[in-house]
Amino acid sequence: MIYDYIIIGSGVAGLNAARLIPPSKNVLLLCKKEPWECNTFYAQGGIAAAVDKDDIPVHIEDTLVAGVNHNDKKAVEVLSENSREAIDNLIENGMKFDLNDKGELAFTKEAAHSRNRILHADGDATGRMLHLFLMGTFIHKIETNCVVNDLLIQDGICYGVKYFISETEEKVAYAHNTIIASGGVGSIYKYHTNSTAVAGEVQGICIEKGLELKDMEMMQFHPTVFKGTSFARKALLSEALRGEGAYIVDDNDYRFLFEYHPDGELAPRDVVSRSIFDYHKRTGHGIFLSFDKFEKIWFRKRFPNIYANFEDLGYDLPFEKVPISPAFHYAMGGILTDLNGKVINMKNLYAVGEAACTGIHGANRLASNSMLEGLVFSKLAVNDSFKNNFTIDKKAYKKEIKYYIRNKEIDKPIKDRVRKLMWENAAIVRDFDSLKAALFEIDEFLKQDVGRLLYLRLLTAKSILKAAIDRKESLGAHFIKEN
Ligand code: SIN
Repeated sequence: MIYDYIIIGSGVAGLNAARLIPPSKNVLLLCKKEPWECNTFYAQGGIAAAVDKDDIPVHIEDTLVAGVNHNDKKAVEVLSENSREAIDNLIENGMKFDLNDKGELAFTKEAAHSRNRILHADGDATGRMLHLFLMGTFIHKIETNCVVNDLLIQDGICYGVKYFISETEEKVAYAHNTIIASGGVGSIYKYHTNSTAVAGEVQGICIEKGLELKDMEMMQFHPTVFKGTSFARKALLSEALRGEGAYIVDDNDYRFLFEYHPDGELAPRDVVSRSIFDYHKRTGHGIFLSFDKFEKIWFRKRFPNIYANFEDLGYDLPFEKVPISPAFHYAMGGILTDLNGKVINMKNLYAVGEAACTGIHGANRLASNSMLEGLVFSKLAVNDSFKNNFTIDKKAYKKEIKYYIRNKEIDKPIKDRVRKLMWENAAIVRDFDSLKAALFEIDEFLKQDVGRLLYLRLLTAKSILKAAIDRKESLGAHFIKEN
């Protein structure tokens, strides 16, 4: 059988694409683990959208300023101009965003937004609520615990995908259109806020196939992540907390961020993360998020999930401050696409959401633009696929390679070393000697007989390091330390 569509990934971009494909089409959606193991499910703060027509140029300008004008301006215009329609369409179909006392949409503020334009749901569980809503609209075929290990690409045509269904078994599925919505690269870093299912393997496949990735040096670190656990996945303290008035202090309750930027806590995310990193290194002080301007009843209502999570962790919010540090959060770079999400030089392959690079985010993503990107560009990709009406002839696809998922002898220590290497050398502050030393180690690992998944991760890690070495000047999230 040939599917009309294969969608890789069950976050907002993948599920929204599925929602917009008519029921008459054969669609297969593949998830690496269970459907909720995606970054959308963990997203707290919200979805940005231009509040009205007058806000479109302001939203565009805020996105460009945060992105240090490294953005593709046309892509940013497409994002903002389509933002309200994307939200209205969700609402018309039953998605419930939080409302204010007057029963109107409750827009909040986040760092580097010059006005309140962030929508949220269940207070601080916007991604989870959006994911539940989109899963509720899902009518196609879904396969879980499928790890994509190859794209069947030949002569600019994608014939489908190959994937592991167990430690030893592989399956092939063919499709007229393939949509990559597999998310970013989180698990390549030692500490991150992402689903542990997200590890950049599909980006590695694209590199192997000679497809272009862009801006891979542009990796975003969220400034306010709970420091108190040793897990790789760290609990996020949403940017919306600072948008509502939480602030960052040292152990003497000193708000040091104003030494770095006039907007203090509400400066762009790269600035806040770098300032925390520098202040801690320079002074040795602990860094905390303080909630002491909030009343308890209001706080519990506005941030019910953060309140409950931190109660479980032993914190009495909003009365106690919480130790924080930055951690990896979001890949601005990814698989290069056009403004319809079509992968460059490919006839029937799309990439949407965090996996893609349309150039929207530039050198630093503006908070809450990511789920919006997933909504807007999944729709554009699906619409484009209707126009191109492309069908494959599966007999034309010749090559078949068998992979093994992992090498139990050597993969684990190499994987751990890579995560540490990336965290220590390709994170908030970089220098060329360390980047080159890390690249050398990755190249050595690539010569070993590693399993397929680690091999793909290594290719993606290598692309981040190479892009960082190639960009000689600091720009946004790519910050090179002066020697
Ligand atoms: C957050 O809630 O702070 C995350 C929002 C985002 O990354 O856009």
